[in-house]
Amino acid sequence: MKRYQLVVDYICGQIQDLQLRPGSLLPSLRSLSQQLDVSKNTVIKAYMLLEDQGLIEPRSRSGFVVTRRCSAGEANLQPEPREVKLGATSLQVVAAAIDQTRVPLGSAHPAIQFPACRDFYKQVARDAYRFAGSDKPNSHYVQPPGLPELRRQLARRFQALDTLVSAEDIIITNGAQEGISLGLLALAQAGDIIVVETPCFYGNLQCIEALGMKVLEIPSNAKDGIDLELLGRSLEQWPIKAMLLNPSHNNPTGSCMPLENRKRLLQLANQYSVPIIEDDTFGELYFETRPATLKSLDTEDRVIYCTSLSKTLHSDIRLGWVVAGRHFDKINYLKYVTTMASPGLLQQSAARFLDDNRYERHLRTARRAYRQRYELLQEAICQYWPRELTSSTPQGGFLNWITLPAGTDCDQIFQQAHERKISITPGSLFSSDNSFRHCLRLNYAAFQPEERYLNAMKTLGELIQGELASSGG
Ligand SMILES: Cc1ncc(COP(=O)(O)O)c(C=O)c1O
Repeated sequence: MKRYQLVVDYICGQIQDLQLRPGSLLPSLRSLSQQLDVSKNTVIKAYMLLEDQGLIEPRSRSGFVVTRRCSAGEANLQPEPREVKLGATSLQVVAAAIDQTRVPLGSAHPAIQFPACRDFYKQVARDAYRFAGSDKPNSHYVQPPGLPELRRQLARRFQALDTLVSAEDIIITNGAQEGISLGLLALAQAGDIIVVETPCFYGNLQCIEALGMKVLEIPSNAKDGIDLELLGRSLEQWPIKAMLLNPSHNNPTGSCMPLENRKRLLQLANQYSVPIIEDDTFGELYFETRPATLKSLDTEDRVIYCTSLSKTLHSDIRLGWVVAGRHFDKINYLKYVTTMASPGLLQQSAARFLDDNRYERHLRTARRAYRQRYELLQEAICQYWPRELTSSTPQGGFLNWITLPAGTDCDQIFQQAHERKISITPGSLFSSDNSFRHCLRLNYAAFQPEERYLNAMKTLGELIQGELASSGG
């Protein structure tokens, strides 16, 4: 047994026996390390894991306090595979995002007020005009793997990321979501176990659910990403078929896995011969430096790389791409039998758009804007929201993960906000077992310090305050 598990078991035991009650102060690092004969770092690691589980929380200066009772079995931090049962719960969240009268702090869509979004559609209009006047004798599909010109443009972009990919390695898909589901279909079957980080983007959980696969949710934290120690033990224990990971500016936490951990992750993938589906949908939206893709570090062709234009430009373009490596033929075939092809017109326009650096310029603008909007959102949180919360510090993307005291019901807050025409995303969607009901996700892509947004933040602050009062937080 790992040393930190000993500490976790001990504290959970004390909470279960009511020797430590909600609100009680935990032993100091020094006293517990002496008492259990472990290092202070081991106690810190155990406290961090207990904090991730919402069982304890830090109180400035005085150390950690217990937040809630602990049920039997919670001390066992080793996760087990299970079926996902999210069903269609996210449809209301997605539907709320379509409603333009709502304040859009919910679904993970990018801001579309950038000039590049308009430019892209103007390009589509020009290409559509040309298509309509084309004198080709027959209609046809742009068969998978997709339009060669677009694949060449994408390969050129990969070179800038130090990722050795040629146009022949790329398959065009309908968004990243199609790439991810084709990757899963290529690697696993119903009943197989797929590792994900927890919390995890609900679309990925639903994809696993729809394919009848099981999920093994390994905790991740904002600093390090997925817990590699737990992952290593899980790979040892279970016949895991694939890992579906979102290491760069993760949805929902915004976390970015450090380079060293990425390398260690690939070592584990190699050691246990387990493929990784890398979901890099937010990778280009970094605030400071582009994180190395897992694909660029992959020396044994274990990574299937998936991304799209959905977060960087416009979700509705529905163009993504996969670098499938040794699984190319299978994924290409699956693409063909499931959706036949992606629209040729959009592929053509995307190829032209990527060709003349408009996309690069747009990305620079978007990165700067999102970074500023994150700061503006934090100011509003400080001004209008209660103090009892932790707000994530993303290094890119446009999502902010808010953790409220354990026991807070963010499904309630979501419903009440919904009635007031504000859309947010409840944390309960991000795991298969409701572990993050006390969390919520905000999208700050379009956030501005304007009346509409500030009023929404004020209202949300009041709703949270009300919920904290009724949950005794
Ligand atoms: C982490 C993540 N992966 C995949 C997707 C799906 O992306 P696309 O719209 O390109 O299919 C999303 C969309 O929200 C996402 O957040």
